[in-house]
Amino acid sequence: DAGKSGYDHYMLKEINEQPTALRECFRGRLDELTGRVKLSELGNLEPNGIVTFVACGTSYHAAMVGTRLLQERGIPAQAFLASEFNLDTVPINPESVVVGVTQSGETADTMRALREANSVGATTVAVTNVVGSSAARETDEVLYIRAGPEISVAATKTFASQQAALTMLATVLSGQRSRELVQELRAVPDQIQSVLDTSSAREIAETYHGSDAYFFIGRGYHYPVALEGALKMKEITYTHAEGFAAGELKHGPLALVSADTPVFAIVTGDGRLAEKTIGNIKEVEARGTPVVAVTDGQSNVERYADHVLEVPASSSVTSSIVANVQLQLVAYWTANQLGRSIDKPRNLAKSVTVE
Ligand code: G6P
Repeated sequence: DAGKSGYDHYMLKEINEQPTALRECFRGRLDELTGRVKLSELGNLEPNGIVTFVACGTSYHAAMVGTRLLQERGIPAQAFLASEFNLDTVPINPESVVVGVTQSGETADTMRALREANSVGATTVAVTNVVGSSAARETDEVLYIRAGPEISVAATKTFASQQAALTMLATVLSGQRSRELVQELRAVPDQIQSVLDTSSAREIAETYHGSDAYFFIGRGYHYPVALEGALKMKEITYTHAEGFAAGELKHGPLALVSADTPVFAIVTGDGRLAEKTIGNIKEVEARGTPVVAVTDGQSNVERYADHVLEVPASSSVTSSIVANVQLQLVAYWTANQLGRSIDKPRNLAKSVTVE
């Protein structure tokens, strides 16, 4: 218990450690004057063809973020669940760059995928938290996320640090220089702190902890965060939860919504994606389903939501890192209401070393 620093659970401690973890992730890597990102431990990576990410669980959601970050910068990229990756169906050659995203650096599925990539001479990269882990040892290049030890089985701070590290990696791979992005990244720890200080996630959990199911929707960078919000919820509350691309709601999931299935919608900015997600929210609301909007107040989503979880305004990638913290807190307080074994959920392990 001494290691919990006064928190009831490691998970809550680790959620609260995110500002510190991110400052550590950025330390010495961001140059505000030039807008450059420096990842000195990485060699000269020159992606030729499609950059392929492999990962499992929460790390796969980070890999989806990484994929979009590269695609937006003109570098073709794809993400595979490591268990679904194999050389028979994914053309990998000595020119390829394969990035394994793995907190522990020991996940069997991810290690198998990286070893297969090594076997054909691809350049492999590990994005990991653990110095000296199998992933760190067996890949050509390593990018450490520097989140510090994570004890709770449900990954929290390591996801934020993976998102941050992959944002920096995408910047380096594309040769991008952006003072704006560097400043936005620098602002994330304080933004997370303000969410931690003011979040009403606990009240939301008190209201909805008896629900039949929870749904999470988002577009763009908020889509992997919707998947992650649902994964956190199911891991520690043992209640059915699913994340959807907001636009897919009408293609099936809408049949599931009722007054007992709150929908969490992540909506930031006031652009087209926000507008479209608000359209999806209206469809949900019309069916008497409670809607919780995670928003920066830039759109008029409040008008259609029963509750609001606020995040500071920022660009979509950094706001998705911050929005995720609200969802972590909702999952934590819901599991707390239900009296679950939060740090060690039934049937789950921190690191899965079998395929
Ligand atoms: C396990 C953990 C998850 C984690 C996944 C991948 O299933 O319970 O929280 O996301 O492994 O772990 P990794 O260490 O590869 O990121």
